[in-house]
Amino acid sequence: MKRILITGGCGFIGSNFIRHMLKQNPDDRIVNLDKLTYAGNPANLADVEKDPRYLFVKGDIVDADLVKDIFSGQQIDTVVHFAAESHVDRSITGPAEFIRTNILGTFNLLEAAREAWLKTPAPGVDASEKGCRFVHVSTDEVYGSLGETGAFQETTPYDPRSPYSASKASSDHLVSAYFHTYGLPVLITNCSNNYGPYQFPEKLIPLVINNALQGKSLPVYGDGKNVRDWLYVIDHGEAIRTVLHKGRVGETYNIGGNSEKQNIEVVQTICDLLDEKTGKLPGGKDRRSLITYVKDRAGHDRRYAIDATKIRTELGWTPQVTFAAGMEKTIDWYLSNKAWIASVTDGTYREYYEKMYGKS
Ligand code: NAD
Ligand code: TYD
Repeated sequence: MKRILITGGCGFIGSNFIRHMLKQNPDDRIVNLDKLTYAGNPANLADVEKDPRYLFVKGDIVDADLVKDIFSGQQIDTVVHFAAESHVDRSITGPAEFIRTNILGTFNLLEAAREAWLKTPAPGVDASEKGCRFVHVSTDEVYGSLGETGAFQETTPYDPRSPYSASKASSDHLVSAYFHTYGLPVLITNCSNNYGPYQFPEKLIPLVINNALQGKSLPVYGDGKNVRDWLYVIDHGEAIRTVLHKGRVGETYNIGGNSEKQNIEVVQTICDLLDEKTGKLPGGKDRRSLITYVKDRAGHDRRYAIDATKIRTELGWTPQVTFAAGMEKTIDWYLSNKAWIASVTDGTYREYYEKMYGKS
């Protein structure tokens, strides 16, 4: 039985991961530490709230005392670290929170793990021999932007371009330093763009689904030809689970969907699927008519693509869900969960949880 601290478990990927872990590893215990920022929504885990294997703690990873208390009080032997400020556009308008959470928060977690696993209770015993592991969940954006060809490998030099990717790059370096300097049993994953249920409707796919359902314009930045490599969120969860169980300590694993698409193709796919599933707009117009090209994002990375050879050949992981199947599942989920989108966009879910847990 593992005692796993999952940070940021009320966000998009973290909540899907917790549900996946409880199903796949029924003997493990999970503590979810989440600050409940605008992106954290405990309703994402309403179905597991009462599970005796699951404990939610509302708190900030930057709060060093709290993090240390959780390590000792809950006898944490495993960390899967998702908590972060995650949206590039927000990092352009307000970078400070990205530096605080993504860099200082990661540092606190590393320090707490170092103290709990390396200093006590048995100095000199290799923490990885005791089964301790710290998985740091990161992004392919740390590698910068690609031209027309090529793909990011684990050896690609870091070249972050946004405050978001720079803060994630910084946290990756700290994690790696704790392995080399102190022997902390860390593993790093760098993954491409995720999509699926429970994604906050500020990111491209849920934003476009939400706007297209309401007949609002669909903002496409620049010429719409920027490329992202899309991965269904449960495939990412299984990749992290695989790295946690089988990965080599100290290593980095790239994770990708082998599914490169231009943004405009993604937006058109959503429009066509919604027209098919819900009928066209009033007046018989296609949803593609809502597409509006807008001013480009500052420093907009042109193309991301992942070479996932290492995780495939070493650990046997490959994505199971194609882009077509994943988009269909995702759209069906948003169509069946309109109340979720409404509560997230009008903020009513926050009022409910603020009454329960207090304001962030
Ligand atoms: P998200 O924004 O949906 O969720 C982030 C979660 O972290 C929220 O629940 C939020 O409340 C919590 N959080 C933020 N600051 C915190 C703090 N100081 N203390 C405690 N909790 C805090 O993000 P996501 O899309 O689920 O991404 C999760 C992780 O995966 C991030 O580290 C991100 O960099 C990485 N990642 C995301 C993608 C993607 O496509 N979304 C791809 C690769 C890697
Ligand atoms: P996003 O979902 O923000 O992820 P990331 O910036 O981390 O890759 O954006 C995905 C792509 O879609 C990116 O190239 C920017 C673009 N985009 C738009 O064209 N319109 C939008 O409204 C948003 C949010 C993103």
